[in-house]
Amino acid sequence: MTTKALWYGGDWNPEQWPAEVWHDDIALMREAGVNLVTVGVFAWSRLEPAPGRHTFDWLDRVLDLLHGGGIRAALATPTASPPPWFTHAHPDAMPVTADDTRLHHGSRDTYCAAAPAYRAAARSIAETLATRYAHHPALALWHVHNEYGTTCHCPHTEAAFRRWLAERHGDLDALNDAWTTSFWGQHYADWAQVGAPRATQYLANPGQLLDFRRFWSDTLLSAYTEQRDVLRAANPAVPVTTNFVLGEWVPVDHARWAREVDLVAVDHYPDRVDAGAEEQSALAADLARGWARHGAGRPAPWLLMESAPNQIHTAGRMHTKEPGRMTRHSLAHVARGSAGVMFFQWRAPAGGAERFHSAVVSHAGADTRVFREATGLGAALARLGGIEAGRVQARVAIAYDAASGWALRHPGMPRDGLDHPGEVAAAHRALWHAGITTDLVTPGDPLDGHRLLVLPALYLASDATADWVRRHVHTGGHLLVTWLSGVADEHARIRLGGYPGAYRDLLGVRVEEFHPLADDERVLLTSGGFGRIWSETVHLAGAEQVTAYIGGVLDGRPAVTRRRIGDARAWYVSTRPDDATYRRLLTDAARLAGVVPACPAAPPGVEAVRRRDGDRSWLFLLNHTDRPQRVPAAGHELLTGDPVDDRVTVPPGGVAVLCEPPR
Ligand code: GAL
Repeated sequence: MTTKALWYGGDWNPEQWPAEVWHDDIALMREAGVNLVTVGVFAWSRLEPAPGRHTFDWLDRVLDLLHGGGIRAALATPTASPPPWFTHAHPDAMPVTADDTRLHHGSRDTYCAAAPAYRAAARSIAETLATRYAHHPALALWHVHNEYGTTCHCPHTEAAFRRWLAERHGDLDALNDAWTTSFWGQHYADWAQVGAPRATQYLANPGQLLDFRRFWSDTLLSAYTEQRDVLRAANPAVPVTTNFVLGEWVPVDHARWAREVDLVAVDHYPDRVDAGAEEQSALAADLARGWARHGAGRPAPWLLMESAPNQIHTAGRMHTKEPGRMTRHSLAHVARGSAGVMFFQWRAPAGGAERFHSAVVSHAGADTRVFREATGLGAALARLGGIEAGRVQARVAIAYDAASGWALRHPGMPRDGLDHPGEVAAAHRALWHAGITTDLVTPGDPLDGHRLLVLPALYLASDATADWVRRHVHTGGHLLVTWLSGVADEHARIRLGGYPGAYRDLLGVRVEEFHPLADDERVLLTSGGFGRIWSETVHLAGAEQVTAYIGGVLDGRPAVTRRRIGDARAWYVSTRPDDATYRRLLTDAARLAGVVPACPAAPPGVEAVRRRDGDRSWLFLLNHTDRPQRVPAAGHELLTGDPVDDRVTVPPGGVAVLCEPPR
């Protein structure tokens, strides 16, 4: 989707309201500067009240009204919420949990994505929508489904799993080998014996669990691509996407999916209410940008498809965003490459499960602080037109790999709670606090221009991944590898000869033993600070010691090492340093690699990100503190329209965007 302006809007559910409200909504959207709304996401039962009987009159009117109001539509296929008739007609298409409980209608997302009846019904409603609306002038984007993320263990799933396994492994011998079924006598003699992982007596087979996660991601992906193909065929000019949801529970490998969407779209809801929400926003945006680049093979736009206009969901309560925070969170995503800002949701429903979820037009109406802030944001986004061309400038890459995250979650690891996404977040947070912008990359992605590559607990390493890392270092790139990286191959089988198997020689270390730490345990480091979660017996085999452990069985032994390879350095970090120590360590590694912050003189609490297009550049300054901050910068401040000679004052909790003088 090419844009000349940033997109602005959110999910709109006219099917929940009488038609008078639609007119009010269009007028309010225009007032707020909205130019794109997602419609129809959960409207299947209103579009097809009985099998094959369609009621499109209301959606015809809605799309015409939008068009008349100059607002474009991201038209959704409603397949995330099958109607009650579907459940009754196809009980076999209802999902089954790992312990054999069949789920029933009553919420949303209740279907098995491998059930032929579900797939046929989903294809059919997508085809009907495509035929009717593919050339509607309001249509800007197809939005397939909503947040693919369910799982199932029913017989349809098991049959599909066997087919997927046969394709991946070729024959049963290869499967037995990949899953190490010689352990505990699990050898399979016939494909019919192979099933989905179910509730079982003790630790389940890690190879089976990992393949099931991969299989299920591919199954959901095929449910998406078959709808996409139908929509594309009806009008190839209209881009197609689906909204990615972030979270450790999500059974989807977004990097694989990114290749199949025309525009990466992500939903982001921080679950922290403190400053952690800002760190989470930056990470989510960098992940989305990384997937967009991975999908396109070059830097590419992405879109924040859902975010909360007000309350943030936290464990057990909703936290009301302080004034200005919504705008700052929104612009933080634009700073990091989003082609716009979309909210869930436009108007708060009077009933239904999410009746208290925040909305631009709340239960109190439009005469509210939130609506006024949303209108201000609309005006701010309009002033940033042209910025879409700017590429986010980052010289550090952090590798993220969904499968490594899944594999570390498997039972039988040396410690519970091992968390690749959490370790990615920790490295990202350390660099974020140091003012250094990072790209998130998928193993195998091109690394041109990235001076430092960080592998945080990147547990799985295929030979191809190991080669990718080696190539980076041998072409002058710096590397920082943390504990548990490269320990296993792509089937989660351990690489023998000492950890970290795939990177041992490159790093010049050999790890003999793990010493996992208890939750409340700390191990002191000679650099100052302490390590948590993990520690190891590290032998130097070509590397030099940078930091040693103090006390305990590892006293005096290497904790952090570094090996010189040409002009580059390859670091190994065998524990998880506390945040301040990690920040210092990563800043040192970045500095040696020649990487500096986007705005070195920005005061603490001010996030700085630069987007550049040739000679033109834009500097975003986000003030996360409650005091005004003076920041050395020059150019033209786009939100206020003021010229800036050498310093700009960013208001408390506010944002400045400078169009900088040409270099
Ligand atoms: C999203 C979902 C929306 C809504 C929202 C609430 O993940 O796509 O439909 O449920 O969460 O935060």
